Amino acid sequence: MAEDGGSGGCGRCCCSFIFTSGLTALFMWLSLRTSNPTCSIQDFYVPALNTTDNSTSTRNNHTISFDLKLDNGMKDKGVRYSNISLAFYYNSNLSIANYTVRGFYQGHNKNTHRRDLVEARELPWPAAIDAVSNRSTANFTVKLATKVKFKIMFWYTKRHSLEVRGDVQVNDSGKKVNRKGLKLKSGAPDPGRNSMRVGPAFVIFTCFINLLL
Ligand SMILES: *[C@@H]1O[C@H](CO)[C@@H](O)[C@H](O)[C@H]1NC(C)=O
Ligand SMILES: *[C@@H]1O[C@H](CO)[C@@H](O)[C@H](O)[C@H]1NC(C)=O
Ligand SMILES: *[C@@H]1O[C@H](CO)[C@@H](O)[C@H](O)[C@H]1NC(C)=O
Ligand SMILES: *[C@@H]1O[C@H](CO)[C@@H](O)[C@H](O)[C@H]1NC(C)=O
Ligand SMILES: *[C@@H]1O[C@H](CO)[C@@H](O)[C@H](O)[C@H]1NC(C)=O
Ligand SMILES: *[C@@H]1O[C@H](CO)[C@@H](O)[C@H](O)[C@H]1NC(C)=O
Ligand SMILES: *[C@@H]1O[C@H](CO)[C@@H](O)[C@H](O)[C@H]1NC(C)=O
Ligand SMILES: *[C@@H]1O[C@H](CO)[C@@H](O)[C@H](O)[C@H]1NC(C)=O
Ligand SMILES: *[C@@H]1O[C@H](CO)[C@@H](O)[C@H](O)[C@H]1NC(C)=O
Repeated sequence: MAEDGGSGGCGRCCCSFIFTSGLTALFMWLSLRTSNPTCSIQDFYVPALNTTDNSTSTRNNHTISFDLKLDNGMKDKGVRYSNISLAFYYNSNLSIANYTVRGFYQGHNKNTHRRDLVEARELPWPAAIDAVSNRSTANFTVKLATKVKFKIMFWYTKRHSLEVRGDVQVNDSGKKVNRKGLKLKSGAPDPGRNSMRVGPAFVIFTCFINLLL
């Protein structure tokens, strides 16, 4: 009986130890998990497709002006972006322009805009103007590709690639049809939450706990 009591006490001790480590692991997982920044196209204007303005200079203005918003929604982690490449397509697969946003660091809970013009040389302008004049839309696709790493306190996580895209429809105002910002999304099922990025740290931590036991 006495022996049983002794092993029971040890069991209880083990139980509470496992429970505490479980809580610690959960807490670590919660504080280490990260989420990708949100990238969106806030504004997209193609002056040549503005049919209200039919001056030759505007018709021959083959630029697209855009406003890209990058939003780090995490409350306590920073994001370091590598150079961000933006690729513009007409009708989803005809490459019309490329643009690079220089890499930078974005603090927690911060957002920023990058506004600029790109020249769309390869676009079949007469067809696009026809489309908007006929109450249809000219269809563009914007693809964003970069690599990001997250800053957790004083450390950086491993770099991983972030690739998102969105389809922009432009009507005869030259502006994108939907006034709201267009959130760029990954083609694959949303990997926005990268909680498994901390997988290795978590496994090492668990092994360490198991060694202690
Ligand atoms: C389209 O052109 C008209 C005439 O120049 C101008 O008043 C209007 O602001 C332009 N639309 C946009 C969205 O800039
Ligand atoms: C330009 O638009 C105005 C009004 O929409 C129209 O009166 C004029 O004929 C147009 N000019 C050309 C060259 O299409
Ligand atoms: C083309 O249109 C954009 C946006 O309206 C303007 O900023 C730019 O100066 C124009 N470019 C030319 C060559 O007119
Ligand atoms: C980032 O882009 C800038 C120009 O936009 C270029 O000068 C620089 O070499 C690029 N850096 C990397 C690491 O590709
Ligand atoms: C884009 O796709 C269409 C049909 O899906 C095809 O006919 C066309 O050749 C493609 N263009 C490019 C540049 O890949
Ligand atoms: C944009 O970059 C891609 C890949 O580097 C290239 O294939 C394409 O021709 C470029 N498009 C333009 C319009 O320069
Ligand atoms: C748009 O309408 C014009 C005549 O108004 C016609 O010639 C053209 O084929 C139409 N384009 C499309 C894409 O329907
Ligand atoms: C753009 O997309 C819309 C909706 O998918 C479609 O109805 C329209 O015909 C497309 N425009 C062109 C020029 O292909
Ligand atoms: C074109 O899109 C703009 C911006 O969303 C909107 O204000 C305008 O009413 C649209 N025009 C047409 C003809 O649908």
